Amino acid sequence: MEESDAIRPSPSGALPPRAHLESDAVALPLDGEWSFRCSPTAGGTPGFELAAFDDGGWDRVQVPHCWQLEGVPGRPRYGSPAYTNIAYPFPVDPPEVPDENPTGEYRRAFDPPEAPPGGRWIVRFEGVDSAFEAWLNGKRLGAAQGSRLTHEFDATEHLEPGRRNVLAVRVHQFSAGSYLEDQDMWWVSGIFRRVALLHRPEGGIDDVFVHAGYDPATRAGRLRVEAPAGAVVRVPELGLELPAGTAADVPRAEPWSAEEPRLYRATVSTAAETVELAIGFRTVSISDAVLIANGAPLALRGVNRHEWHARTGRALDEATMRADVELMKRSNVNAVRTSHYPPDPRFLALCDEYGLWVLDECDLETHGFELLGWRRNPADDPSWRDALVDRMQRMVERDKNHPCVIGWSLGNESGRGRNLGAMAEWARSRDPDRFLHYEGDQDCGDVDVYSRMYADHAETELIGRGEEPSASPGADARRRGMPFILCEYAHAMGNGPGGLTEYVELFERYPRLAGGFVWEWMDQCIAQTAQDGPHRGTEYPAYGGDFGEELHDANFIADGLLFADRAPSPALAELAAAYAPLALRVGGDGITVESRYRHTTTGHLGFAWRCEDDGVPVADGALEVPPLDAGACVRVPLPAAVTELDPPAVGVERWLTVSARLAGAERWAPAGHEVAWGQAQLPGRAAPARRRPSRPAGTAPALARSGGGWDLGQARFDARGRLERLGPLDVVGPVLDLWRAPTDNDELAQPDPPAATWRRLGLDRLRHRTIAVVPEQGALSVVSHVMPAGTDVGFEMEYRWRADDGGVCLDAVGSPLGTWAVPLPRWGLRMAVPAGLGDVTWFGLGPGEAYPDSASAQRVGRFSASVEEFQTPYARPQENGARRGVRSAALEGGGRRLTVEGGPFVLTARPWTTEALEAAAHTTDLVPDPEWVWLNLDAEHHGLGSAACGPPELPEYRLEARRFMLSLRFEALGR
Ligand code: GAL
Repeated sequence: MEESDAIRPSPSGALPPRAHLESDAVALPLDGEWSFRCSPTAGGTPGFELAAFDDGGWDRVQVPHCWQLEGVPGRPRYGSPAYTNIAYPFPVDPPEVPDENPTGEYRRAFDPPEAPPGGRWIVRFEGVDSAFEAWLNGKRLGAAQGSRLTHEFDATEHLEPGRRNVLAVRVHQFSAGSYLEDQDMWWVSGIFRRVALLHRPEGGIDDVFVHAGYDPATRAGRLRVEAPAGAVVRVPELGLELPAGTAADVPRAEPWSAEEPRLYRATVSTAAETVELAIGFRTVSISDAVLIANGAPLALRGVNRHEWHARTGRALDEATMRADVELMKRSNVNAVRTSHYPPDPRFLALCDEYGLWVLDECDLETHGFELLGWRRNPADDPSWRDALVDRMQRMVERDKNHPCVIGWSLGNESGRGRNLGAMAEWARSRDPDRFLHYEGDQDCGDVDVYSRMYADHAETELIGRGEEPSASPGADARRRGMPFILCEYAHAMGNGPGGLTEYVELFERYPRLAGGFVWEWMDQCIAQTAQDGPHRGTEYPAYGGDFGEELHDANFIADGLLFADRAPSPALAELAAAYAPLALRVGGDGITVESRYRHTTTGHLGFAWRCEDDGVPVADGALEVPPLDAGACVRVPLPAAVTELDPPAVGVERWLTVSARLAGAERWAPAGHEVAWGQAQLPGRAAPARRRPSRPAGTAPALARSGGGWDLGQARFDARGRLERLGPLDVVGPVLDLWRAPTDNDELAQPDPPAATWRRLGLDRLRHRTIAVVPEQGALSVVSHVMPAGTDVGFEMEYRWRADDGGVCLDAVGSPLGTWAVPLPRWGLRMAVPAGLGDVTWFGLGPGEAYPDSASAQRVGRFSASVEEFQTPYARPQENGARRGVRSAALEGGGRRLTVEGGPFVLTARPWTTEALEAAAHTTDLVPDPEWVWLNLDAEHHGLGSAACGPPELPEYRLEARRFMLSLRFEALGR
């Protein structure tokens, strides 16, 4: 068996951890082109580490990279990525790993830079997955594990100044460390973060520990910087200069918060070296079970963030990190949990700069042991103690100077065990100013905050009240004195999550609820190119199983607020609305503005109003709102210009929209960026709540028998009373439809996924039996039973058609047949219209997709989109694209037009059928129907929930079978 030291437990050689510092000492980045070779086992190439080794025949790669992503979006060139959630992709025989252990060898030649005499040289690796050994000029530097942690090696003895040096690194995909890195993500390997050669001058500053507190009572900061004796700390903006280790009060310091990330640039200097610091004064504390920052209760409106890019895997560039942070800020996110490992250090610097509270999580997860009843879990095995504590130390030491980091998380899903206790004990003594978090510790013996994932709304509310179910009397007392964090909630897999706003309302109501982190920021899919079919050459997001893995968890990796190409999914808009820092409520004679900021005023915002009649703008203006202190609330009267408007015409809806926008540009958004809005309908001239879709009587055409069917105005029906033409348009339907292409939440809810129940019942194969076709004076009434084979459950439908002067009106009424024991996916009508009708305009909620429990981001207005734009490209195709509250819609194209009015109804328009959508596994499986655009005109949908990993829809969003009615008017125009 080929063996390597690096894969054994706790390989040695790395220097003790220290802070990641910006220094003026000599340094040479070693990123860029390296020679690379990949082999299937750990043995590697004899002599590859020698400077004289000839690597002329090797490939060249750009480091940092993940080798399994080389070649993507085409075929991976070195091995292939593999996705598992919980199971290890190798036999669980700790600490052993399989003989099949893909191994990458890297070589990089460089000329050392000039440096002052003396001192030491070190080589720094910021991230290598999962274990590696390094040599300089053939001499071993050491080996290390801990993929998302920095490791440094002393290279002083082996560096040869004035000539070409060769750094050689052997990286193994699997190692003992892999047992500690079973996060729900792709197994990918390589040198995926930066590498550098650093000079450490004699008398330099190896480490610094900044303590910068803030006292809201005195508004003073307090600063103490631990650094080598003799070093001087300077904060020019504060006129401060003090010796390292001494404390200074800083009167009138401006505090750092995510809302106002005030940083003070500082230096720490010795004669030999200066390091630069960004200092933020802030104090995080816990009092009466409330998590507090600078005296104010924290409201964490957070997201879980993995580091991912669809083409480069876990190797991210700074522009991508910055774009993520800016998009978070624009989406009202104020907190990040670095699930489930410390991020690239540059990400934390960005969080300091832009303002995001960070829960920094250690690179630890042993979830696969749960499948074995936690037998031999490294979290509780003394032989793993040092490895776990080392990981904690490496995180805390590296990241300890970031004001954004408010808490340390021991890791994720690693069961319980003594080694977690040892990690906590070390961290508590090293950094008592931050709280400790670990969700797996539900008795809260090791931690300072109570944390859970996916607790439902009801339980979260009980916890908010301090009335959560009892664990054990001892633990209860301790836990109930702690604030609560939902470290994961609102699982954003596929279409969803539903119920997000209801969680945020709970966070606002109960001070014990410090908030939470939505799972998760982005889909971690891999860009692939369709090899065949009509979309050959088109990119699509690939997921588990697409790379031939023997174990995988399919599309469970596609559960983000962003798609894998970082385009926002509808869930991000929903999140931005739920996380809005202001509540704007329009009602009665005024507007209530409630600040949900905890640390800043509304001074940076401007307010505006706009009135629209049936979605057409009629007036707008600025809204005077006095600046509000954090948490304050004010009611302002409706602007006179609104109350003085002439009332709208009868039947016209007048809506007032109020919005809060950035008055000036912020570094994350331009002036005018909207942070919050509110909307309400103003009373009109006896505007009916529901529109009757009919025109003046008197001109109604009569029903006429013709060619075995009927004509009624512009409608043509077949012998069974099915509409087949509307004026110039061939149509199919409309008929009752209950089916939706199941969402991931429908498919994966446990223990009884609704999709399975629906399929068992046959809601995807309804049969329509005409019972009666009743011609009437000026109307046609069709009665049918709609039921699947094998059951007596279904709906009795009556479709009653009338014509008016231009179009036809339909009253569709459905009454349940039999005993319904399951909710309905949807209740409404399916029809098809000619494919050319590709442009949609509507008056209703928009512009985006909305479902009953995920509709906060959409507002009443007039919108337009193409049928193509109606589609949301979930990585695994599923129900999507519904526009709610539609009062009227028009589909147009090629000089023809169909209008549908009434409802309000829920509109979906697709270039394919629901069946085709359901059958597709990837976005490129969907091919537009050359003949038809498929419409669903629904009375209502079942909620989304987030049961793929979490609670189902709230009870009020369950679509129970009952009597439904939908009234619509159709009118077709054109040739
Ligand atoms: C949690 C876990 C995450 C992820 C999520 C489901 O249990 O901590 O890593 O697996 O569930 O997507």
